[in-house]
Amino acid sequence: MNLYGRFFARIYDRLMAQSEEHGLRERRRALLARAEGRVLELGAGTGVNVDHYPAHVRELVLAEPEEPMARRLEEKNPGRRVVRAPAEQLPFEDASFDTVVATLVLCTVADVPRALREARRVLRPGGRLLFLEHVRSGDERLARWQDRLHGVWKQVGHGCNDNRRTLAAIQAAPFTVEQLEHGRIPKAVAIVKPMIVGVAVAS
Ligand SMILES: C[S@@+](CC[C@H](N)C(=O)[O-])C[C@H]1O[C@@H](n2cnc3c(N)ncnc32)[C@H](O)[C@@H]1O
Repeated sequence: MNLYGRFFARIYDRLMAQSEEHGLRERRRALLARAEGRVLELGAGTGVNVDHYPAHVRELVLAEPEEPMARRLEEKNPGRRVVRAPAEQLPFEDASFDTVVATLVLCTVADVPRALREARRVLRPGGRLLFLEHVRSGDERLARWQDRLHGVWKQVGHGCNDNRRTLAAIQAAPFTVEQLEHGRIPKAVAIVKPMIVGVAVAS
């Protein structure tokens, strides 16, 4: 059994609490207000987004590949549909969702281009990807620190990559980015502070 995976699932909400309280929660809420119709959330973790979806969302499907996280997700969100699946291999039909949500997950998926291809596949034409991700810094000095500390961080963060060019990957998928903000994750360690928040359309 993956001991660190179990530990990570157990402490995840506590690890994020300061960031959530100091503004991340509000960022999530503002972004998820754009969700509509049938919604798929990738790597849903413990389900921190669940309460932020607007009431008009028709159906919410939570995908999560890690068993300890998926169990925690189910415990914390009884009655919600949880599907054990990685973003790279989604067990859903083409064009079957109106919205796909990725928050703090493209840093961790093993194959970002494949995950984004899958997101496009399951989105209907004109469907939207809502993303909130920490990314490689635009500041070269910080980016070099992200590269130097990448290996250690990946161990500590249970597979999290601190230096990904996630926006470029989204555009290359291709998605057309129709809304984008650069920000900083409050109270986060410097190498995982740079953040992008936005909305992209499957093009
Ligand atoms: C940092 S947590 C983020 C959880 C949640 N999305 C949030 O916003 O707080 C990263 C999540 O990605 C999940 N994950 C790891 N590999 C994945 C993959 N290949 N596809 C989808 N999710 C994955 C992890 O199990 C974990 O739940």
